[in-house]
Order: sequence, then structure tokens, then C-alpha cells
Amino acid sequence: MRVAEDGAGRRVALREARDVLHRGGLVAFPTETVYGLGANALDASAVQRIYEAKGRPAINPLIVHVATVDAGRALAAEWTDLAEKLAREFWPGPLTLVVRKRDVIPEIVTAGGDTVGLRMPAHPVALALLTEAQLPVAAPSANLANQVSPTTAAHVIAALGDRVDLILDGGATTVGIESTVVDTTSGMPRILRPGMVTRDDLARVAGVAELASQEPGRVLQSPGMLGKHYSPRARVTLVDADGLDEAIRRARARGERIGVMAFHPVTADFSIRMPDTPAEYARKLYAGLHAMDDARCALILVERPPPGDPWAAIADRLVRAAR
Ligand code: TXA
Ligand code: MG
Repeated sequence: MRVAEDGAGRRVALREARDVLHRGGLVAFPTETVYGLGANALDASAVQRIYEAKGRPAINPLIVHVATVDAGRALAAEWTDLAEKLAREFWPGPLTLVVRKRDVIPEIVTAGGDTVGLRMPAHPVALALLTEAQLPVAAPSANLANQVSPTTAAHVIAALGDRVDLILDGGATTVGIESTVVDTTSGMPRILRPGMVTRDDLARVAGVAELASQEPGRVLQSPGMLGKHYSPRARVTLVDADGLDEAIRRARARGERIGVMAFHPVTADFSIRMPDTPAEYARKLYAGLHAMDDARCALILVERPPPGDPWAAIADRLVRAAR
């Protein structure tokens, strides 16, 4: 594994990254959401290496990253008016569009399904890589399956190390949690995974937007949303503001090393004061969970975020982390 830093060496690193992709290797790269673990999306054996490196179950499809809206459209067997509208409005950005796939996309990318998730990321290094490589790049988050997604190159190194051929270091990501995944194959946007492009944002453009039910027993709609996910090693418990002091006291009495993420300062072994705007909170969330794992906290107490659409994606990740 090599780490190529953004800056003076960037052109050279991009050429090297392109070469790694063209010979079927793995390149980790920054996007605005989280770091991705990329391979040539048109090369089934390269994509196979992604699943192996992550320990990802074969039933969980990958997102394909593209440099332009045209490049996305070219991979779709059917590109609905809805897909066009959403891509025009939100790309480049943290929105993945699920569309019917063309045959050029190998089945391993889509876990055998006839749809593919497409995204044009809003990050200069990601876009430069996609442009340089002239390839669609399949990339899940660059973490081991079911663990917290990486928001820095250091997180990628800690999780995957030599399983990656090259890491492009673009600094800390700015959105901080994974893209919103939206099914566009029916007339109406159906949110398969909430993200910082919110239901209200989608409804503003499409007229309506619905959250797909993730209840167990329902047909598998977005396998990545199954059960436990996005979890640090430590146990995570969500607590209301007025129960926080008591929860800290009880954990202390048990002798547990605790981390606390709250909206106001608290006294704990490790605490992070979280911002009170959703965008700032999302940016800090995974780095905070990683830091508390690194500090060997056994329990992470998280003050429950406020209700409402702008906080929905953050609440979703916290509830999953707490499972
Ligand atoms: O922000 C992101 O989306 C990051 C960056 C790297 O782009 N990628 C990411 O990928 O989070 P991953 O693989 O960790 O999560 C992809 C999610 C999973 O929940 C997966 O099940 C869902 O998208 N997905 C992918 N293709 C799908 C499809 N064709 N139909 C339904 N869900 C799909
Ligand atoms: Mg992931």
C-alpha cells in the first residue's frame, strides 16, 4: 500500500492511481462523504477484490462512481425523468441514484440485481481520478464490513492497510456520512438509505419522496441497510439529554471506560462536544466514533439528536451503531 498525498505530487499520484485501476488493483480515494475503496467497475475480478478486502457479503451491491452526468446516463438501461431531474439538481454531490443497469456492468457489482447505484461525487480528488482513469469506479466505503466508515486516510490505513494498493490522501471529508441512496425506477423517489440530501430536499425537486420501509421480513431493498451496521467496537447507547448524567454515573459505577458525545460539555473519560447543526454534526460523527475506539472506550453514550428531517440521516446512523 502506498499513500499519495494531495498537493505537489497530485498529478503523478493520479497517473499512478489510474494505472492501478487499469491493471485491476484497488485505490482508496476521498469523496465528500467518506473514503471509497475503488476498482474498475467494468472488471469483475477487480471488483471481486473489493469484496475480499472488506469481507463484504456478496449480496450487498456496490455504488459506481462517475465523472459526469453523461457518464452516469451511459451506464443506465433506463434513465427516467426523475433520475435526470435529481442528477441535474444534486450531482456532483452526496446522492446515489439507483437505476436499471446496462449489461456492461458486471453482475458482481450489483450483487446479481438488474439495478445499479450511480453517484457523481463532489470532491476534486475523486473527480480528477475518475477523469484521469476514464473508467466508472465501483467503490464502497473503505472500511471492513459493518464497521464505521473512514473520513480520513488514516482511518483507511488503520482498517485496510496493505489490502489496498494505493491510497489518495485528500484530508478529512466534509460531509462525513455516506450518500443518500434513492431508487428512481418508479416514478417517485424512494429513499433506501437516508443521507445529507434529505427527504425534504428530494421532495422539493421531485414533488414527493418516501422513505422505503426497512422492516425485517420485507423484501430486501438495500441490503447494506440490514441490521447492525456502522458500528464502532465500543457499545453505543443513545440517551436523552436529561438522562445523560445518570447514565454516566451508572457506567462509572460499573468501572467502564466511557466516551460521551453530547451537545454540551460533560465530564467523562473521553468526551466530544457535538455541534448543534446537522451538517457540522455529520462531519464530526465518524471521526468521533473512531477516536473513542482508539481511546479504548467500552461504552459510548450519545445524546439523542433532535427530531426532524435535517437530522434524519444522523439519527439513522446512530440507531444502527447502537444496535
Ligand atoms: O457516500 C457513499 O455512498 C460512499 C462513497 C464512497 O461514495 N459509498 C458507500 O458505499 O457508502 P457502501 O457500499 O458502503 O454503501 C452502498 C449502499 C449499501 O447500503 C448498498 O446496499 C446500497 O448502497 N446499494 C448499492 N447499490 C444498490 C442497488 N442497486 N440497489 C439498492 N441498494 C444499493
Ligand atoms: Mg459502507
